Amino acid sequence: MDRVRLGVLGAGNIAVLNVKGYLEDPRCDVVAVCDTDEEAGRLAAKEWGADSYYRDLSALLADESVDAVEILTPTHLHHDHVIAALEAGKHVSVQKPVANSVDDALEMQAAAEKAGRILRISECFVHYPPLELAKRLVSDGAIGKPTSLRIRTLVGQTDSDFQANLRPEGYGWRLDKRSPGGHLFDDMVHKYAMALWLLDLDITSVQAVVRRRDLFFEPCAVIFEYEDPEVLGMMEVQYSPNFYMRSSYYGADEFFEITGDEGQIWVTRATGEMLDLAPVMLFTGTPHERKTTEFTDIEADWATGFVRSSQHFVDALTEGTDAAMSAADATDVLRLCFAVYQAGATRAPVDPRTITGVVSPPGWGEW
Ligand SMILES: NC(=O)c1ccc[n+]([C@@H]2O[C@H](COP(=O)([O-])OP(=O)(O)OC[C@H]3O[C@@H](n4cnc5c(N)ncnc54)[C@H](O)[C@@H]3O)[C@@H](O)[C@H]2O)c1
Repeated sequence: MDRVRLGVLGAGNIAVLNVKGYLEDPRCDVVAVCDTDEEAGRLAAKEWGADSYYRDLSALLADESVDAVEILTPTHLHHDHVIAALEAGKHVSVQKPVANSVDDALEMQAAAEKAGRILRISECFVHYPPLELAKRLVSDGAIGKPTSLRIRTLVGQTDSDFQANLRPEGYGWRLDKRSPGGHLFDDMVHKYAMALWLLDLDITSVQAVVRRRDLFFEPCAVIFEYEDPEVLGMMEVQYSPNFYMRSSYYGADEFFEITGDEGQIWVTRATGEMLDLAPVMLFTGTPHERKTTEFTDIEADWATGFVRSSQHFVDALTEGTDAAMSAADATDVLRLCFAVYQAGATRAPVDPRTITGVVSPPGWGEW
């Protein structure tokens, strides 16, 4: 297709970041908005210049002027909404996490294959320029053979306008049994995606210690073993509930460290901007020269990942390029997430490739 006529399903908290890339892309028109919250839906349709507002998904899907649907509804609804859109002949982009269970994700993948339509999962970290650069540096051999990946997430507070404007309704469904878990599910799927994508290697074993604080947050220390036995991964979530950090978005900050036989790469930010460092740094050294390369001339605003992700979906529809992230990749991310919960509960190593169904942390939602 030459142009994409997009319908947006769900005009909640994340929509503003997600839709910007479509609005800015000259190959795309946002033609319809659907939200059960009529006020939010009508307001979004007006702001985005969409011709139609619908309260019901069936009406949106019956609209023949809609080629593709961006699904931004709560995660527990993704399975039904994605399958309905595919069966109506629409191409689909859906926000992470793909679904609440591995079985649901597999059904969604099968529905896309049956319908012959594109299904991709919108994963903003895959399109965040500092992380793209880090992946490229690794594959170009900048640090030699990779041996280790560390991913640190620090959850705290922020007083950003974005955070202040979030609607509280967006939190209810994340805190009860409509979700299979807390922060390690809802947010950390981004970091599981990075654990698999940055090195392009499968993870064969997970060990984890997982705690819980303030219902939702799950400080943890996790070890990943990769299919290449010379590569190890470490993932930490730390929690500082009374610490206000610099962030234009949520109160969270990430740090990625990739080590190879010949050097190390740091990605010093993503959601937040806690550190006064270049977004990407490369450390290399020989007996004759030790070198630190700071990549400062790179777009590092976290929202850029959303904009580029949306434009990447338009690329896929108009140019037939691969649509990252695929449903199969997102299912592997979900398996890894559930493997961490299972390893945390049993304190035994878990092979994520064996995970089916859903795994929740002990006691989840019993409050
Ligand atoms: N990439 C990221 O960093 C990121 C950040 C936040 C949220 N997300 C994901 O985006 C999705 C939405 O999250 P959110 O924070 O915007 O949630 P939200 O609850 O703020 O928004 C969801 C919207 O969907 C609407 N809705 C609910 N049921 C509906 C239905 N049956 N038909 C039509 N509309 C319906 C709600 O009225 C609401 O406006 C989730 O899957 C979440 O995990 C991703």
